[in-house]
Amino acid sequence: MSKEILVAENVTKIYGVGTKNPVTALEDVSLKMYEGDFVCVMGPSGSGKSTFINNLSTIDVPTKGKVFINGKEVRTMGENEVGQFRYQNLGFIFQEFNLLDSLTIFENIAVPLTLSNTPLSEIKERVQLVAKKLDVDILLDKYPNECSGGQRQRAAIARALVTNPKLIVADEPTGNLDSQNSHELLELFKKLNEEEGVSILMVTHDSMIASYSQKLLYIKDGHIAETIEKGNLSQKEYFYKIVDVNSVESQKLFVD
Ligand SMILES: Nc1ncnc2c1ncn2[C@@H]1O[C@H](COP(=O)(O)OP(=O)(O)O)[C@@H](O)[C@H]1O
Ligand SMILES: [Mg+2]
Repeated sequence: MSKEILVAENVTKIYGVGTKNPVTALEDVSLKMYEGDFVCVMGPSGSGKSTFINNLSTIDVPTKGKVFINGKEVRTMGENEVGQFRYQNLGFIFQEFNLLDSLTIFENIAVPLTLSNTPLSEIKERVQLVAKKLDVDILLDKYPNECSGGQRQRAAIARALVTNPKLIVADEPTGNLDSQNSHELLELFKKLNEEEGVSILMVTHDSMIASYSQKLLYIKDGHIAETIEKGNLSQKEYFYKIVDVNSVESQKLFVD
């Protein structure tokens, strides 16, 4: 029996509570992810995908409902504890790479370790190791603006992985990548998932990219409207199912 890594119970997020125009971006959503799960989130623009993963991953705090990561209820932790917990358990990858321009690639990758007061010798060792894995080891002394888009994204991924997170949270991680770099990233995710048991929760609008996952959540108007499991399907069969859901759901958006 696998361990639960992420549990969300009846999570609701309302932006602008107490204002004239509150927006309910997420309503009564529940999810159970076990260690080693690879879950993808799709849905129309503005349907609540980013709100969903932000509220499930300590980046934002739900208006209602509970979130447990690694068995710990996020709401019961203090701010410092959440910070430490994040460095120890979670790796974030966003569409914007968010590398700091004034830091070298080495220093950028080291940020989560520096923030958690890791000894310098260990920082050097871990950065080298993860940089090699992501093929950015020859770039460690360069600055982000001296690197290509693909290299910057790989550096951002190295930064997310340098703490050996148990759960990777990614919001449109391929949004700024060309198709080859996108597939290389997903091959890496797949490897981390299959060989190292890392759990992944990822938003994408690309059915091909989503077909690397084992489970797909289709979000609409702040609800999980559809869930598809890969099960025994081939990646290709799963891909067609994902395309179908997207196409059926998109058609419903037309009024006539
Ligand atoms: N900080 C915010 N304040 C107010 N409304 C927001 C905020 N962030 C998102 N929203 C609204 O919540 C809804 C869901 O947004 P979001 O989660 O970003 O959707 P998606 O990622 O699927 O495009 C949208 O209607 C959006 O306008
Ligand atoms: Mg979004």
